[in-house]
Parts: sequence; C-alpha cells; structure tokens
Amino acid sequence: MPDDKRGLRDRIRPALPFGGQQTHHVTTSRQTEPYGDQTMTSEDNRPPGLGPGRARQSAIYRAGARGQAPSVPTDAYGLERRAKKIMSATAWAYVAGGAGEGRTMRHNREAFERWRIVPRMLHGVTQRDLTTSVVGTRLSSPLLLAPIGAASLVAANSDVIIARGAGSAGTPYVISSQGCNPMEDTAAAMGSTPFWYQLYWSTDEGLVDSMIGRAESCGARALVVTLDTTILGWRPRDLNLGSLPFARGQGIAQYTSDPRFTEIVRQRIAAGIDRAKTRASFGAVRTLVTMSREHPGAVRKNLQSPEPRAAVETFLDIYSNPGLSWNHIATLRDRTSLPVVLKGILHPDDARRAVDLGVDGIIVSNHGGRQIDNAVASLDALRRHPGCRGTATDDLAGQWHPIRHRCDHRAGARRKRLPARPAIHLRIGDRRRRWRPPGHRERRCRA
Ligand SMILES: Cc1cc2nc3c(=O)[nH]c(=O)nc-3n(C[C@H](O)[C@H](O)[C@H](O)COP(=O)(O)O)c2cc1C
Repeated sequence: MPDDKRGLRDRIRPALPFGGQQTHHVTTSRQTEPYGDQTMTSEDNRPPGLGPGRARQSAIYRAGARGQAPSVPTDAYGLERRAKKIMSATAWAYVAGGAGEGRTMRHNREAFERWRIVPRMLHGVTQRDLTTSVVGTRLSSPLLLAPIGAASLVAANSDVIIARGAGSAGTPYVISSQGCNPMEDTAAAMGSTPFWYQLYWSTDEGLVDSMIGRAESCGARALVVTLDTTILGWRPRDLNLGSLPFARGQGIAQYTSDPRFTEIVRQRIAAGIDRAKTRASFGAVRTLVTMSREHPGAVRKNLQSPEPRAAVETFLDIYSNPGLSWNHIATLRDRTSLPVVLKGILHPDDARRAVDLGVDGIIVSNHGGRQIDNAVASLDALRRHPGCRGTATDDLAGQWHPIRHRCDHRAGARRKRLPARPAIHLRIGDRRRRWRPPGHRERRCRA
C-alpha cells in the first residue's frame, strides 16, 4: 500500500531516541502530528528551543535510521512534481497557471534568486522567539497562510483541512472569499489560532456588507480586501481547457452560504432568467454533478433543483467589481470594526494613498503572477515603498511580507471608525523582533 494511503495510526509512531542532547519524547496524543513516515511533535511537547524545522529534520533522520525514507518530499520541486502527478489537468492548470506568458511568475522567482543571504556567526542564540504581531494579530512566526480559492479542485472539504493544519501549527490563515467551505466552518476548524477574512468586492453592496458581518461574527481579526482581481486575469492554461472552477460551482461556498446571495438567487429563479435548456453532453452532465455536490444540501435534491445552476450564474454576474475605487475603500470606515488590509498594492503612490485613507496594512503582492503578465515582482516592489527603512533583505520573511503600519496599533481594538489621521509608521517586518534573545522584552516602536 502506498505510504500516503496508510492509516493515521500506522503513521504515528513513537520516535526512537537517536542520541544527542535533543532527544525528545513523542506521544500518540492529539499533540502529535503525522508527517509522512515521521512523527512531528507540536510546540507543546517539543523540548525548549527545538523549532519546527529542527523537529522535523530530527524526526526524518531518526526514521531514516530505522530504514524509512520520508514519504513527503522535503524540497519544493519534489512536492510540486508529486502534486502534479495526483491532480487533474484542470486542477493543475488553475493552481499552477499564471497570467499570459507567465512572465510575472518568472519575475517573482528571479527577484528572490537575485538576493543572497549573508549569514552572521556566533550569535549565541539557543532559543528563538519568532513571535510578532501584525495589525493586532499575534503571530507565532512572521507567516500567515495566503488566501487560496477553489481548493476543492485538489481535495474535498479543502478549507477545513487547511484550517486544521494551520490551527495545529498555530499559523493564521486568511480565509478566501473563494473558499470551498463556508467561512464559519473554516473558522471553527482553526481552533484558537487567529484568522483573517479576504474579501472580493462584489457588485452587490448588500452582499459585501453581509460577508463583512459574517467575518466579524465568526471571529476574523482583520479584513483583507484583494484589489488586483476586479476582473480575472487572462490565464491561458485555464482558457485552453475552457476551465473555470467557479463555473462548475467550485469555490463559491462563501456565496451559497450567504443569506443575501441566496436571496438574489431566488429572485433570479423567480424571474426565470436561466430557463433556457442546456444541450445535454458528457461535459454538461459532469458539471451538473459537480455543481450539485458543491451546493449546500443533498446531492440528489440538488440534481433536480434549479438552485445550483442559478447560484453559479448569479456568482458569475456579480463576482468582483471592475468599478472598485478608493471611494469604496473609504466606506469601510463605517462598515467594519476590523482592521483593514489592502492586498495587491505594488505602486508606491497606491501605498501612500492607502496610508492616507487610514488602512491598517497593505500586502505587497502581484497575486503570484496570476493577474497581470509582465508585472513587477512583489519583492522588487517592496523596495520602493514609502517609509521603508533599509533594504528588503533586512527583513525578508518569505512570500508573505508583513508591513507593519502603526506599531502603536491598539491590538485587536474593535473600532467603528478607522483613524481619520493615521499615525504613519510603515515598516517591513522587524528582524530584532523575530530573533529576540531570551529575556528580551518587546519594545514599543516609534509611531
Ligand atoms: C490556486 C490559487 C488560488 C488563489 N486564490 C486567491 C484568493 O481566493 N484570494 C486572494 O486574494 N488571493 C488568491 N491567490 C493568491 C495568493 O493569495 C497569493 O497572493 C499568491 O499565491 C502569492 O503571491 P504574492 O506573493 O504575490 O502574494 C491564489 C493563489 C493561488 C495559487
């Protein structure tokens, strides 16, 4: 039987001590996470100072000493090859594809490759503290999981599965508007780990309010508004297959679970807008089955109901708003008490404008090269932002670049209005905070 098909129990085994001072005890309690053939301990039962990377490395080598090679590849390319092998052509096209000729994706990679790490020696640190906080959310390390839509292309119940993983790793997840589980279910699966909600601004303002209200009610700590997808990018891999997950009802669970959206769908059905019959074909039947599976309720009932198709058609009509402007963002002051983060900013003038408007943070991003071909690499864009000190490499934290704005931000403060005149302090990460020596007390940043 392939390793990844074996039962959970088989995969959770106590690790044998392998000498050295980092011997640790592994239990089969809930604190233990399976990791391929190896056993990973959670932060709770890890010996002090043993970070997740070292814990995993140690588990792999110990298992290796018993003759077991890791079943999960340890390098990004290996993981990518494995993923491609098990995914359908349409899933792979959606996940791996970019806009146009893929130049922005290439630029992103090249930008990272241009930077080099110059390690410093003899720092005498045995215990790392990677904790930091961004717009009032405490992070166990300077990482959040980016919003990923339509993940049910890869696995059913995708967002709940991602949330469980994120929750057990203590890493906040930004729940996507294009999620495949209702945000309430995903939020519940996060446990006590905080999460944010990412909003695509639809053309129906009632729906925007409804989504924001639900995000607040289920405990999101920030609202991320993605700005770069007011229309879908030109993605040849999807286009050549004629494949868009949303058109098959995948990735619209936030909508089909929303009362305002459901109301619009019912009005559409009553108006008979989609009454025209679709010609029966293998593809059409397959789509109908997928839609019925993804739609709330029993599959058998959905197969006979006009709702799944009307929901997809409604979504395609109102998804994202090409007219989105700074005026819309300004209305958020009165619409939410959550900190607002704008995702997709690349130009310094837009960053300044966001600061002037009093948003709490920006995410410098080109959507992984999925929206505009030949756009600037996100990493290159970082260097030109106002208020940044030094160079991006001083603070590089991986694909996600937290920009701390207003270090005196009232942590998690529920405010009805964003500050009219923001106290501006833009800064990218903070190395001292991420690598604090033991006993180091958090300092307040200048505002
Ligand atoms: C399959 C896939 C789905 C994505 N779905 C969303 C989404 O629903 N909302 C969103 O804001 N970004 C989405 N993104 C973009 C990511 O959140 C993220 O911005 C990108 O992968 C990394 O690029 P960046 O460093 O330029 O941000 C998606 C990316 C991928 C690969």
